[in-house]
Amino acid sequence: MRKKLLLGNWKMNKLVAEAEDFGVAAFPLVEKALVHNIDLGVAPTYLSLPIVKQKVHPKMIVAAQNVHFQPSGPYTGEISIPMLKEFGITWALVGHSERRSYDNETNEKCNAKIKALVLEKMVPVYCVGETLAEFEQGLTKAVVSAQVREGLKDLVAEEVKNLVVAYEPVWSIGTGKNASTEIAEDVCRFIREVLKNLFGEVAEDIRILYGGSVKPENIKAYLSCPNVDGALVGGASLKIDSYEGLLNNII
Ligand code: 13P
Repeated sequence: MRKKLLLGNWKMNKLVAEAEDFGVAAFPLVEKALVHNIDLGVAPTYLSLPIVKQKVHPKMIVAAQNVHFQPSGPYTGEISIPMLKEFGITWALVGHSERRSYDNETNEKCNAKIKALVLEKMVPVYCVGETLAEFEQGLTKAVVSAQVREGLKDLVAEEVKNLVVAYEPVWSIGTGKNASTEIAEDVCRFIREVLKNLFGEVAEDIRILYGGSVKPENIKAYLSCPNVDGALVGGASLKIDSYEGLLNNII
């Protein structure tokens, strides 16, 4: 039985003090989530990671939004895995569509990051999803399949057992145009099939999230889908009331 996961991606939002306040306020929510066998987490900016990690419930997942695949070196503006580990951060998003669009994050680069993360026993949250043009041309599965195959190239079952995959159709991110539950389930089931082809039965243990305009009002419908194991939420994860609403509606 896969444990449900609610992960907030704060993107480039919140000053450190705001992130800290949220972390403290979320403490009882983590207690509540644990009772219902749900994992709760947030992905703050790099600058807020240390204080949030320090202030939140020890069972709350605190993820970086990105990471470099090299441990150190001449990579101006980047943060490495040992730097995250220094603060106890063991989760990182990889290949978010905003990074794919604005920062040339290719499947190949994602692959290097995922390999480096699993080598360090960290948990990658690998984001995949098609653009609006690809969706309209019926290319969703071809695009997502290539993202999964190339992003997870040369990995073995043992290395992906803790991996999380997030299906986020680009056209649904921050647009209010969320994918129907039928689309979300169909694509998440398809991703599981691709994972099964690549890695065998471990695919049944890999958590697959849906992301894109998830709100307290629609989260329950997504999480009722058999292959949707949780949600990666942007806008609706920023305010503690809304974040609590997301949790309450999947309990
Ligand atoms: P929104 O929930 O704001 O659409 O963002 C989704 C997302 O990109 C999460 O990573």
